[in-house]
Amino acid sequence: MREHHFHCTLTEVTAHEISETEKKLIAHAKQALSTAYAPYSQFKVAAAVLLQNGEIVCGSNQENAAYPSGLCAERVAFFTAATLYPAVKILAVAVTTAAHLHEPVAPCGACRQVMVEYEVKQDSKIKLLLTNPAGKMYISESIENILPFVFRLDV
Ligand code: THU
Repeated sequence: MREHHFHCTLTEVTAHEISETEKKLIAHAKQALSTAYAPYSQFKVAAAVLLQNGEIVCGSNQENAAYPSGLCAERVAFFTAATLYPAVKILAVAVTTAAHLHEPVAPCGACRQVMVEYEVKQDSKIKLLLTNPAGKMYISESIENILPFVFRLDV
């Protein structure tokens, strides 16, 4: 019998420890919270994606009366970015919530799987910045870092 250990590293940072570009990305995500459509959960989430061409594409959660038909903020942002700029690499994504929780919102499993797909597609890491209204911040150097042993067809 042999155990395999997978690990995930998150770096907690303060506003002084991130770049101006990262601050701007977080500000865009916060602004996009106003576009969330969350009448069922009242839980607003937004994401802002930074592309290599300098563009920032935002997404927010979009709910539906038929609950599973809605979509998380991260997937709205990634799918929009991939549709508008299919050939442009994604450098980073900031995710935030309006909910006053102690911890920044952590992307759900389905969103992690979707975001990893774009790392595989573009063959480079996507930096993840997680924040909450209190200003607590975590950085992950890649999406795969937060989804160890990810599902892949090519392993
Ligand atoms: N939600 C996101 O937008 N992103 C996540 O990573 C987790 C959850 C949304 C889905 C739903 O609209 C609301 O948060 C409550 O689950």
